[in-house]
Amino acid sequence: MTKDTRVTAVVGVQWGDEGKGRIVDYLAKDADIVIRFQGGDNAGHTVINEMGKFALHILPSGVFNPDTMNIVGAGTVVNFDTMHSEIDNIKSKAGIEVNNVFIDERAHIIMPYHIALDGAEEGKRSAKDKIGTTKRGIGPCYEDKAARIGIRAADIMDEETLMKKLSALLPKKNRELEYYGLPTYGLDELMADAARWKKEFGDHIIDTAPVVRDAVESRQRILLEGQLGIMRDLDWGIYPYSTSSNPTVAGATNGSGIPYCSISKVVGVVKAYATSVGGGPFMTELHDKTGEKLREIGGEFGATTGRPRRCGWFDAVAADFACYMNGVTDLALTKLDVLDSFDKIRLCTGYMIEGEYFSYLPETRLQEKAKPIYETMDGWLTDTTGCRTWDELPEKAKAFIQRIEEVLKTHVTYISVGPERNQLIIR
Ligand code: GDP
Ligand code: IMO
Ligand code: MG
Repeated sequence: MTKDTRVTAVVGVQWGDEGKGRIVDYLAKDADIVIRFQGGDNAGHTVINEMGKFALHILPSGVFNPDTMNIVGAGTVVNFDTMHSEIDNIKSKAGIEVNNVFIDERAHIIMPYHIALDGAEEGKRSAKDKIGTTKRGIGPCYEDKAARIGIRAADIMDEETLMKKLSALLPKKNRELEYYGLPTYGLDELMADAARWKKEFGDHIIDTAPVVRDAVESRQRILLEGQLGIMRDLDWGIYPYSTSSNPTVAGATNGSGIPYCSISKVVGVVKAYATSVGGGPFMTELHDKTGEKLREIGGEFGATTGRPRRCGWFDAVAADFACYMNGVTDLALTKLDVLDSFDKIRLCTGYMIEGEYFSYLPETRLQEKAKPIYETMDGWLTDTTGCRTWDELPEKAKAFIQRIEEVLKTHVTYISVGPERNQLIIR
């Protein structure tokens, strides 16, 4: 297997919400297959196209293209009720049929008790320790997966197996729920949920492995869509303020069933500044008027939870770590236009931690004590939203992008200057 394939991975290289949805939507127009490889409906991927504005949670962003096969891969955790309402919403708003979504039979199912437990566990954490989860049951579902007691999509296809698994598991789940003073679940109601999901999605629950292998070997165009960003990766992110999966290229190969060497291009999506939603260290966070201005102009409110996002300057140390870890070949720099009215723009290129200089990203505990060291550049004070070529960009905007390339040693191939599909410069 060589890199002579047409597989592109799109990953978030910050704390999530980098604009992955809009980049995947753009690239998906030429894709035969789009695969969501990890995470669940904690995602909020905004797509604006000629059909309207959509926030996709569990559906891959290639869903608007009837000729593209959309796979919810083996590494994901699936809430079928969310999937149902998203499909309904697209059908009514976009006026299209959605028959192009397939779920790998290995994907784990988010059960109602996962959602209840996510909320309860988060509620019990002190203000300082809160992860700020999306309360979609993501952590508890992956917990069961790792404990090897999870319910997989394949299980709902076989009533007898499901009954056996749920009967063994429910007393434990109900004890946990009782511990938090929450209502318990009965076997019959969960079996009824599963029967409903089977009826609606059964024909679309498949073994995607042979399909994907065939597509890789016949050089079809495949797009791997990441959820969240590396800074909340379970292993390399700001644990324990992380999610419970790997939103990296390593997670992509595993969660989609594509060998690493078949991935020919890795697009790292990165905002021209930084945002984070939820708890944990965020080195360049601004608690002042500049942070408020970024939030206001950038519309930085969660696509899933509506929470205000924490805002700050571009953290090149974290982005450098992300580019290396993901083997990023091309950067997609989004929301450049949000900086149009800032007269000074800053770029963090190192940290001071307990009197010591760090040029690289340390573990969470040290990140919590890190003070950013900035380079300051002149803003361009020009509207970039109408720019469609590199040459049309103001010189100072070009200088900012070139400095990012220099520090990250990675080419910025895509520059996004607005949320619309065509507000994109390809270099
Ligand atoms: P994702 O989770 O990585 O897909 O990103 P989100 O959809 O959560 O957040 C990105 C937000 O920025 C969405 O509201 C997009 O419509 C918007 N957006 C994306 N690219 C641009 C851009 O270049 N400029 C502006 N102004 N907004 C953008
Ligand atoms: P997209 O795909 C931003 C954050 C939550 C919380 C932590 C764990 O739109 O970029 P979880 O519900 O996964 O257990 O929450 O991760 N988080 C996100 N932040 N964008 C997302 O998705 C996120 N998904 C989870 O705020 O801090
Ligand atoms: Mg998002």
